[in-house]
Amino acid sequence: MAIIDKIKAKAKSDVKHIVLPEGEEIRNVQAAVMIRDQGLAKLTLLGNPDKVKEVAAGADLTGIDIIDPADSDKAPLYAATLYDLRKAKGMTEEEAAKKVSDPMYYGIMMVKLGDADGLVSGAIHSTGDMLRPALQVIKSKPGMKTVSSCFLMECPDKSFGDDGVMIFSDCGVIPAPTAEELANIALGAADSARSLANMEPRVAMLSFSTKGSAKHDSVTKVQEATRIAHEMDPELALDGELQLDAALVEKVGQLKAPGSKVAGHANVLVFPDLGAGNIGYKLVQRLAHAEAYGPILQGIAKLCNDLSRGCSAEDIVATVAITACQAQG
Ligand code: ACO
Repeated sequence: MAIIDKIKAKAKSDVKHIVLPEGEEIRNVQAAVMIRDQGLAKLTLLGNPDKVKEVAAGADLTGIDIIDPADSDKAPLYAATLYDLRKAKGMTEEEAAKKVSDPMYYGIMMVKLGDADGLVSGAIHSTGDMLRPALQVIKSKPGMKTVSSCFLMECPDKSFGDDGVMIFSDCGVIPAPTAEELANIALGAADSARSLANMEPRVAMLSFSTKGSAKHDSVTKVQEATRIAHEMDPELALDGELQLDAALVEKVGQLKAPGSKVAGHANVLVFPDLGAGNIGYKLVQRLAHAEAYGPILQGIAKLCNDLSRGCSAEDIVATVAITACQAQG
């Protein structure tokens, strides 16, 4: 069974409530109908009900909640909570009230206050526009200093990862992580492997050097991140620094990193920075024809996920199923 079908089956087994702030947008409305029909999540679309219905063009929206942030009983509570959270950063009560009339902030406040289990957005907002309010309001989860992201990859070549399934991280959030941030990314990615793919993580901290074969500040950073990650979770199967071939190919792993439990068998790849991660997942997606699901946020206290602006309605359905699975814990 494809990984996304497993995720959809898991989402159906314990239905979660997901909010779609871009409720007046056609792909979101089409996705909402598919999600309701497949029983993947309980849904709330944010937007003016008349506009949502106009976009739906006659499609039956029974069972899908529609909330207009500009005309909602909850808006005063959300505004007061947002003001409390952000007043130290200079936000005024008036600004908070204005922000929660924006569906993105309204949706994030729903998740923050437990009125929804997760949020999916980004069909018409940039990654930064979606991430910034999520990071400001929801923050990282206890024990994690950094929110980051991963891609769930499924390669046609089943000899890699666990039956072709791998986690790549961070491909979407932190442009130039410090060693400490990189260690947090590694632990977040290990959690993602468990919660999304039911995999026991074997984490490779990637570099252009294996076990000191090259010397450079960027190599030292990965070595330091490996040390910190071991300290944070001594039981986790994690090794570095490893070149990609040493991480994935058994013979190369044995040669370059003898005795490593991860080398040659990695199912979680942690890239040294966002440039490498973002380019890396796209190379595998395009050249190796892998399925790539993400960016999926990890290390965040409540669940929010981003979409690509080029996404299809089916991509939104998949991201909602993924978010619902993460919300199951
Ligand atoms: N983890 C936890 N908190 C964070 C993080 C993080 N990784 N990054 C920022 N924050 C917090 C800050 O501490 C700050 O909190 P505060 O206001 O309470 O003090 C708040 O979030 C805002 O931080 P800023 O530094 O003002 O936000 P910034 O403008 O740097 O935006 C962002 C953060 C949006 C994540 C930025 O790093 C970014 O744009 N990243 C790249 C996103 C991107 O373009 N990805 C590639 C495309 S995606 C793709 O192709 C798959």
